[in-house]
Amino acid sequence: MPKLPSLKIPDAVVPPPLRKPPKPGSKGVPKGEAPSDLKTETPPAKTHGDRVLDQAKEAPADVLAWVDTRMGGSGFLTGMLYRKVPKGTNWFYTLGSATLFAFIVQAVTGVFLAMFYTPSATQAYASISHINNEVPLGALVHGMHKWGSSVMVILIFLHMGRTFFFGAYKYPRELNWVIGVVLLILTMTMAFTGYLLPFDQRSFWASVVGININGTGPVVGPYLSDFLRAGPELGATTLSRFYAIHMLLLPGAIIALIGAHMYLVVKLGTTAPPWTKAEKPRVAAPVAQLDAGVEGNGASPNGGSRS
Ligand code: HEM
Repeated sequence: MPKLPSLKIPDAVVPPPLRKPPKPGSKGVPKGEAPSDLKTETPPAKTHGDRVLDQAKEAPADVLAWVDTRMGGSGFLTGMLYRKVPKGTNWFYTLGSATLFAFIVQAVTGVFLAMFYTPSATQAYASISHINNEVPLGALVHGMHKWGSSVMVILIFLHMGRTFFFGAYKYPRELNWVIGVVLLILTMTMAFTGYLLPFDQRSFWASVVGININGTGPVVGPYLSDFLRAGPELGATTLSRFYAIHMLLLPGAIIALIGAHMYLVVKLGTTAPPWTKAEKPRVAAPVAQLDAGVEGNGASPNGGSRS
């Protein structure tokens, strides 16, 4: 193969500490003298203003250090951000984080919508019209929340598919799978309860259908639909109930469960893709064999993180 010519990086783009100093006798450096940037010069004395500025620059790091000394959170963060991941990790492994991001977007946009939304049967529709037509950026935030809910549902299914097809539900991650299933149910319930909130014809009748479908479930079905309807017919009490579930109950439960889910991901590590080979456990060779020059297989004693 022909050898590619080596590229010379121009000095101007190399940061000064990394630049190669010119040889004595070249580029204006007199023979027998060190280049000017290698000479040690006494730095000029700092003024009071410089010292205050330096302290101000250090302030954020000082505050973080103060908090960390009392909370010890840096150990957890370092463990989480610098944890080892198995070989072969690919883009499919980002689906969980993408779902998390979608949830955060829903939470943030939801807070702003709640500032202008009125959960009353007579005013809900008007408040949504007000958000869409009069509140600055209201249509954008409402649109992000509405489309974001579908994005989150799609992502959560893709993430579940990834964990299923990569065998990540097996020992020791069964509990994380179960937590995931509960998160899936809660996310679907979020989407269902949020759909009624604009209280227009479509959301009203879609919720009637949804509540009736719930009522067909075995044993608990009728109780569940009664609980959701909060009365004999879908109306003002249903809207209040859906709003409370959508705004308070479900976000709290989802945040707590995502916390447990993430804790287990960090504690147990990530599953390697099924097509990567597990390392064989190292077998200690008897001393006699070592003396004779026969060695073990050199594999990691942990045997990788595949389940
Ligand atoms: C709000 C919903 C969810 C969020 C925010 C979330 C987030 C995450 C993240 C960030 C990871 C680590 C990175 C990755 O493997 O993608 C992960 C791993 C995992 N998730 Fe989820 N997840 C959610 C729902 C689910 C669901 C519905 C299931 C299955 C029913 C599930 C099962 C798992 C499992 C088994 C792992 C471990 C994967 C491994 O070890 O390779 N998660 N999740």
